[in-house]
Amino acid sequence: MIQTVATTPYADQKPGTSGLRKKVPHFQQPNYVQNFVQAIFDSLEGFAGKTLVIGGDGRYFNREVIQIALKMAAAAGFGRVLVGRGGILSTPAASNVIRKNRAFGGIILSASHNPGGPTEDFGIKYNIGNGGPAPERITEAIYARTKEIDEYRIVDAPDVDLDKLGSFDLEGMKVEVIDPVADYAELMESLFDFDAIAAMFRDGFRMSFDAMSAVTGPYAQAIIETRLGAPVGTVRNATPLPDFGGHHPDPNLVHAKELYDAMMGADAPDFGAASDGDGDRNLIIGKGIFVTPSDSLALLAANAHLAPGYSGGLAGIARSMPTSGAADRVAEKLGVGLYETPTGWKFFGNLLDAGMATICGEESAGTGSNHVREKDGVWAVLLWLNVLAARKEPVKDIVTKHWAEYGRNYYARHDYEGIDSDAANGLVAALREKLKALPGTKVGPLTVAEADDFAYLDPVDGSESKHQGIRILFEGGSRVVFRLSGTGTSGATLRVYIERFEPDPAKHGMETAEALADLIAAAETLAGIRERTGRAEPDVIT
Ligand code: G1P
Ligand code: ZN
Repeated sequence: MIQTVATTPYADQKPGTSGLRKKVPHFQQPNYVQNFVQAIFDSLEGFAGKTLVIGGDGRYFNREVIQIALKMAAAAGFGRVLVGRGGILSTPAASNVIRKNRAFGGIILSASHNPGGPTEDFGIKYNIGNGGPAPERITEAIYARTKEIDEYRIVDAPDVDLDKLGSFDLEGMKVEVIDPVADYAELMESLFDFDAIAAMFRDGFRMSFDAMSAVTGPYAQAIIETRLGAPVGTVRNATPLPDFGGHHPDPNLVHAKELYDAMMGADAPDFGAASDGDGDRNLIIGKGIFVTPSDSLALLAANAHLAPGYSGGLAGIARSMPTSGAADRVAEKLGVGLYETPTGWKFFGNLLDAGMATICGEESAGTGSNHVREKDGVWAVLLWLNVLAARKEPVKDIVTKHWAEYGRNYYARHDYEGIDSDAANGLVAALREKLKALPGTKVGPLTVAEADDFAYLDPVDGSESKHQGIRILFEGGSRVVFRLSGTGTSGATLRVYIERFEPDPAKHGMETAEALADLIAAAETLAGIRERTGRAEPDVIT
């Protein structure tokens, strides 16, 4: 029985960089979830009788929202929903399930690397039939709809048992509870040389993978321990918990500090890796060396041909604008296109669909390829393993040789979290005001070469995205980028991205903070961060 329920709009359901993200209590307001899910369905056309995929990272509130979404999908007229057992699907696995089953689209429940729990973060995101995040044209339509919504439709039925594999009827719609790992593991096996990686483990290669009590635990165990034969215990914190054990499931040097410390220790394993809440990010650490995500993108692009899935070479490389230019030099050498997009994976979808790019990445620990339409943490780890198995060299040697060949892009991101929104907007507005006057001026020892507010013209569909970050480029190729986060749930987060290119191998041994000192000082001078935000230091440096 379909019920039509009257509702009133919420004014704040605008999807950000990656879907709608709010605190759990915010989502628990009456009809808050229902309004947004109905707005998604109301913004789509032609899905009657088709397949929808639903899954999430298992965080607090995941199961409740899945039941609501299932019942609303049945009322909306979908023919079938594929849902991961226990409501679990990592974001890249969901993308794969959508693609493999030629589904109409998917609903992914996650707040990525943000904490989970009764007062922590939650999120709802819609992905289209190519498996990737909905483009802005759709997220804008969803937002417009949320402002007018006055009713939603839902079937009146008991909850679906999410823990039993199999096919169930929900008021005429088929619900298939699927194994969340199987299809994904099969896809990985088709891309990488599992025999070579397994042989490396047999020869004593040691690895530590921190699943951060988040969604990748079951994926990493099934692939790295079971299929590739790494010793049991290689995957740590492998059970997904609704509150991620009280931690931030964010694979960076702050939140994965234990892994970092172990990798810097005397008895470090050969390779350390971690993934985030929903499994799309990755952290790569070799014995005694952290690999920045920007460098990892460049290194993977330069070595991808060593993996069977990429032996034919790359069509092109795409990176988000704030990501370092390390990948640009690889693209140049390979003679393939390099595409610079705004922040957020949704901008890579068109390039991947058009066959213009094969590998994509962001400085925020996201790397992926055309195998799905999301960034993919476990994929990045497996490609690294494949490269290590093929090259038989330590991570540190591979990285330093890469720098010697291409030059080193010293890089850091400084985040000022939970600052006052007006102060943050004021800071960006003031920078925007003075952009025109900056070229030619000196900031300490640096001279500004160019300054702009990044705008992107999608080469595939011609759509334009403006105001994607303030770029200040200095003579000699260094730069500072300022932008406000689009994923936060309280106040504003200012991100300052700092990069310096150093071609001389004799200067590749510096500490990052030392190498970037002039640029960090210039960022402060240009933006007046301390004065405007009251913060003397960033909260997180990655
Ligand atoms: C952040 C990252 C961005 C990433 C997004 C989703 O967005 O910076 O690269 O795509 O999370 O994981 P932001 O908070 O900066 O808008
Ligand atoms: Zn994520």
